[in-house]
Amino acid sequence: EEQSEQAQDLAGKRVLVTAGPTQETVDPVRFFTNHSSGKMGYSLAEAAAKRGASVTLISGPTQLAAPAGVKRVDVVSAEDMLQAVLSVYDEQDIVIKSAAVADYRPVQTSDKKMKKQAGNLIIEMERTTDILFTLGQRKQHQFLVGFAAETDDAIAYGLGKLERKHLDAICVNTVGKDGAGFQSDTNEITYLNKEGKNQHFPSNTKQQIAHQILNEILADMEADEV
Ligand code: CTP
Ligand code: CA
Repeated sequence: EEQSEQAQDLAGKRVLVTAGPTQETVDPVRFFTNHSSGKMGYSLAEAAAKRGASVTLISGPTQLAAPAGVKRVDVVSAEDMLQAVLSVYDEQDIVIKSAAVADYRPVQTSDKKMKKQAGNLIIEMERTTDILFTLGQRKQHQFLVGFAAETDDAIAYGLGKLERKHLDAICVNTVGKDGAGFQSDTNEITYLNKEGKNQHFPSNTKQQIAHQILNEILADMEADEV
């Protein structure tokens, strides 16, 4: 059986994964969101659980079922996700932020359905809190991993985020390329860490990529302890 052959190298570790998009409400029938399917985050949660971790998955709205043995917490907006993450952050050993969090939300939300009017509509948007930046500021013992999906200059932008958000590592991928992206069952990522590691994983199933990412995290955590 697959489960019994799997090395339990995350036994005793608490792992927090965020996944999926967020939804930012405009009115009772409308919201802003993005193309994230949640598959990468769910694959990470599933892989970590199979390796013996105690896994919490904080998820925006997705079509996916919670992986076996994973505690899922459902959220809708970026603000909901921030509060859910902060409430369990202190007790985590590894935090992986694969969610595609909205950068902006409408300044005002309407209790009633908005009616169309003559002329153009302008919706004023304000910045959401950067959850990962907040976690970086409050980091104690946690190994903190971000994601960056970019259309161009992926490594340069990824390195910028690694530094600015005080991360231990970041998984960078180029969206729009074959076999890498939001809805796909496959992904291709480059794992960058704060010591300058640049480990590329060519296109593979998200489940395989998840295990490869967890291997890198474990290796980095062991190196940190020495
Ligand atoms: N992130 C977050 N909270 C936000 C926005 C992003 O926690 N409000 C996290 C994402 O979960 C991801 C990382 O930050 O792990 C990078 O997200 P990304 O959208 O690539 O970067 P941004 O910092 O938002 O920059 P930009 O969208 O301008 O590229
Ligand atoms: Ca963003």
